[in-house]
Amino acid sequence: MKKRVLVTGGAGFIGSHVCETYIADGYDVLCVDNLSSGKRTNISHLLDSEQFQFVEEDINHHEAMAALFASFQPAIVNHHAAQKSVVTSLEDPLHDVDINIKGLLVLLDCIKNNPIEAFVYVSSGGALSKVIEGQEKSSEEDVPQLISPYAITKYAGEKYLAIYAKAYGFDYTVLRYANVFGPRQIPDGECGVVPIFVNNIVANQTSVLMTYPDMPRGCTRDYVYVKDVAEANRLASIQPLNTVVNIGSGEEIAILDIYDTILAIFEKEVSIQITGPRAGDVKRSVLSNARAKACLGWQPQVSLEAGLLALKKEMTLGVV
Ligand SMILES: NC(=O)c1ccc[n+]([C@@H]2O[C@H](COP(=O)([O-])OP(=O)(O)OC[C@H]3O[C@@H](n4cnc5c(N)ncnc54)[C@H](O)[C@@H]3O)[C@@H](O)[C@H]2O)c1
Repeated sequence: MKKRVLVTGGAGFIGSHVCETYIADGYDVLCVDNLSSGKRTNISHLLDSEQFQFVEEDINHHEAMAALFASFQPAIVNHHAAQKSVVTSLEDPLHDVDINIKGLLVLLDCIKNNPIEAFVYVSSGGALSKVIEGQEKSSEEDVPQLISPYAITKYAGEKYLAIYAKAYGFDYTVLRYANVFGPRQIPDGECGVVPIFVNNIVANQTSVLMTYPDMPRGCTRDYVYVKDVAEANRLASIQPLNTVVNIGSGEEIAILDIYDTILAIFEKEVSIQITGPRAGDVKRSVLSNARAKACLGWQPQVSLEAGLLALKKEMTLGVV
């Protein structure tokens, strides 16, 4: 029998690729999304599949979610729905708690009456990074900086999940993503730096880069291609690790270098304006992916350049 997976946030950028991967692997998928930042067009190509159902719903609607759990009886819950912006979390921490903590607790509460086999929870390797020095990379065992409400709620979510997994007898994996990029990403928030730059460059418009005085090429980040991330979800569903695992490239790149790489790939020359730092930003971020390789059998297949070329190709074809 096909396994049933409930994907929250499945109409979003990453969630829609995750739904595709599950369908290709033979799962029946129930995608629940309130379309607050996700789009119907991200999943329109999946709607004809007998393996795919979409319900427009808010994960915070407890009764509605309980009814969906009872009728669909998922074996796996894959939780991508979130308030994902560091900046929004600083401006409106109550909203951040509402979605990232309360929303998760609604799902976990539904599991009490509808037992599952495994839960895949999405967290953030960048936001939960420690202050890294020299050539080191963030490991899952580091003590996170927790300098934004978003980091706090994602971290708390990891801890809630571990408690519920033990209490209600299911397995879980926490996937701490690096900065994900690829088709369907919308240009908002810090995670959206690639689409922000790409859109500006294609439109010959100046971008703005926020730097620290001691980091003139901008903060550093670790970029991972969205289809590699979807594959990590597939593997974590087959073989839950009951721990946290970083999903990143292991390559540290300054944001100005991302900009220059995009200029080269899109064969453009467009200026960039440098300005002051932004509150809540982790200065340097690069994730060790040693645990993902050793325990999940996962490693990134698509480089930044190859991913940007694929994005350019899809934009040329009008797919994105
Ligand atoms: N994009 C990245 O680089 C990155 C990095 C680390 C972690 N993440 C995490 O990955 C997940 C997906 O992020 P994304 O970049 O695809 O963003 P996204 O905004 O495209 O996806 C989030 C989805 O959740 C849905 N959603 C939000 N609140 C909801 C609610 N209350 N009920 C139902 N649906 C709701 C949105 O409509 C959207 O479709 C998030 O948990 C985010 O924190 C993303």
